[in-house]
Amino acid sequence: MRSDIPVMISAERIQQRVDELGHEIASVYQGRPITIVGVLTGCLVFLADLIRRLDFPLKIALVQASSYRGAATTPGQLHVQDELLPDLNGRHILLLDDILDSGQTLHYMVEHLRKNGAATVRVAVLLRKLGRQKVALEPDFRGFDIPDEFVVGYGLDYNDEYRNLPFIGMLPPDSR
Ligand code: IMP
Ligand code: MG
Repeated sequence: MRSDIPVMISAERIQQRVDELGHEIASVYQGRPITIVGVLTGCLVFLADLIRRLDFPLKIALVQASSYRGAATTPGQLHVQDELLPDLNGRHILLLDDILDSGQTLHYMVEHLRKNGAATVRVAVLLRKLGRQKVALEPDFRGFDIPDEFVVGYGLDYNDEYRNLPFIGMLPPDSR
């Protein structure tokens, strides 16, 4: 299965970049406690790798966001389930997602967290797809800018599969 998928970003490059992101994040927060809010399900691998590089007090919270899209990347209507979110009043929030595509999900979540009393909200994404943003949103931390290709692996899925690939790969159109 893996051999069919061309590698866009190798596992080694991802690990190296996540190391660097860990340092960037630590230097911004200067030891202040944060809550990382991960957007399920795509954030899971990135979240697990990143938190082990952060040596200061942090909590983890999760939300589920889905865009009801079909096979392709056309965004549909956004559906957010935030029942798992704890009280975030006064907390410094780092909102974490796998990829910034249209920006719809993260834009909504930033507003939602602010309304719920977060002291600050910053955004970290592993990937940003160039030329796709419909909503102005500049991530505070970003791993890689990528071209407008459908990618899988390292948490990203196609129909809920391929999340376990250790690299970011380009899913060929005939596999969709
Ligand atoms: P946005 O709201 O359009 O920015 O959508 C972001 C969400 O769409 C991400 O959290 C992913 O779940 C999904 N997504 C966007 N592009 C891709 C892709 O190339 N591969 C897998 N999932 C993607
Ligand atoms: Mg997602």
